[in-house]
Amino acid sequence: MTSTVLEIKNLKVSAEDKEILKGVDLTIKSGEIHALMGPNGAGKSTLGEALVGHPNYTITGGKILINGKNLTDAYPEERAKAGLFLAFQSPISIPGVKISTFLRTAYNDLYPDEKMPLKDFFNMVKAAMNDLEMNESFISRSINDGFSGGERKRFEVLQMIVLKPKIVILDEIDSGLDVDALKLVSAEIKKLHDQNIGFLIITHYQRILKDIIPEFVHILKDGRIVMNGNKEVSDKIEDEGYEWIKG
Ligand SMILES: Nc1ncnc2c1ncn2[C@@H]1O[C@H](COP(=O)(O)OP(=O)(O)O)[C@@H](O)[C@H]1O
Ligand SMILES: [Mg+2]
Repeated sequence: MTSTVLEIKNLKVSAEDKEILKGVDLTIKSGEIHALMGPNGAGKSTLGEALVGHPNYTITGGKILINGKNLTDAYPEERAKAGLFLAFQSPISIPGVKISTFLRTAYNDLYPDEKMPLKDFFNMVKAAMNDLEMNESFISRSINDGFSGGERKRFEVLQMIVLKPKIVILDEIDSGLDVDALKLVSAEIKKLHDQNIGFLIITHYQRILKDIIPEFVHILKDGRIVMNGNKEVSDKIEDEGYEWIKG
C-alpha cells in the first residue's frame, strides 16, 4: 500500500482582506484519523477550503505539501490528482450535470491511464450506492439539484468511495444527518479508513466522533491551533464546551 502525507506548514489564509488562519501546522498521513474541532467562526471551514484551493480564500503565507510536493498554489484539479478530497459543508448545486456524467468524468480525469470499461465503472458505482442505501435512479439526477440534506451527504460519501482519494477532509459531514444515515456514513468512512485513507474530520460537535474514534484531536480557535490531543479532548469538549481552552 502506498502511503501519502499531507503537510500543512504555518498556513495563513485570508478572505476579503481579512486574515482568518494565522499560521496553522498540521500533518496527516494515510490511515490516520484526525479531528479538527473548534467554536463557530474559528476558521475550520476556511482551512478545508484553502486546502482544496477554493478561489475565495487567499493563502498569504506558509505551505501545503503532499508527499513533499508543493501544492500551495496548485489548481484544485492538481490537488485532487495528488489525492486530496474535500466534502463541502454546503455542496453547491450543478443543475444540468448528471451524477453519472460527473463521476465518470472525474474518475477519468483522476486516472487517465486506467480506462475502466463503462460497464465495470457503473457496476462499481451501483455497488457503492447499494451500500449507501441510495436509490439507483439517483444516478441520473443533476448534482445536488433538489437533494435533501441526507442525499447530499450520501453523494459526498459516494464520491469518496468511487474516486478513491488518499486524504479526505470532511467538513461537518454529520450535520443534517439523522441517526440512521449517520450510522451508514460512519460505516463507510470506517471502510475507507481500513483501505488506508487518511481523514481530517472537521466538526463543531463530537456526534460523529462517537462512531469514528480519532487518533488525533486538534482545537482551532481564532485561526490558530491552540491544542493537540486525543479522544480525551473531544470528550471534555462534549462535557464542558470550548471555554476551558485558552486561546
Ligand atoms: N469567503 C469569506 N469572506 C469573508 N469572510 C469569511 C469568508 N469565509 C469565512 N469568513 C470568515 O472567517 C471566519 C471563519 O469562518 P469559517 O472558516 O467558516 O469558520 P468555522 O468553519 O470554524 O465556523 C468567520 O469570521 C467568517 O465570517
Ligand atoms: Mg464551518
